[in-house]
Amino acid sequence: MRRRMAMVALAAVMVTAGCSGGMESKGTMAQPSLYDRLGGKPAITAVIDDFVGNVAGDTRINKRFANADIPRLKMRLVDQVCEASGGPCKYTGASMRDAHKGMNITDAEFGALVEDLVKSLDKFKVGAKEKNELLGALGGMKPDIVGQ
Ligand code: HEM
Repeated sequence: MRRRMAMVALAAVMVTAGCSGGMESKGTMAQPSLYDRLGGKPAITAVIDDFVGNVAGDTRINKRFANADIPRLKMRLVDQVCEASGGPCKYTGASMRDAHKGMNITDAEFGALVEDLVKSLDKFKVGAKEKNELLGALGGMKPDIVGQ
């Protein structure tokens, strides 16, 4: 009988632990990463594809990319955004300072590129919160890109 009671008690503990879901039941559930909220790698790839298309058609900055390796640049941008948003990718390109060294990119050019990205984010209906988080992360790179 004692043994049976012990088994019942153990089962009760297991059920309670299982149902509580640990920390999450206490209202501390972490929100999904920006990467997940953006829609993961397929959605990021679609946005970057469209964005690079916008840049190619943007006469304010497209001459800058005349000698660029576009497929490689796209791949690196996808990895960069994926990693920066908490995704599983690893960015393997140059640092932003090294990548843009000697280009003397202006504030206006940086702004033009961001506008081209915003167009794509809007086209793919990325939410305001996600858009601001992503633009915030990229904005942090500005000192390493402009005026180098
Ligand atoms: C938030 C803004 C920007 C980000 C996140 C960014 C990101 C990158 C990345 C990841 C690369 C590839 C580095 C590598 O291959 O190792 C790159 C290269 C390059 N970026 Fe930017 N960039 C930004 C702004 C700009 C602007 C404003 C311009 C010019 C208007 C520019 C022009 C270039 C050029 C010409 C290359 C070299 C591409 C090649 O040779 O294949 N970037 N950038």
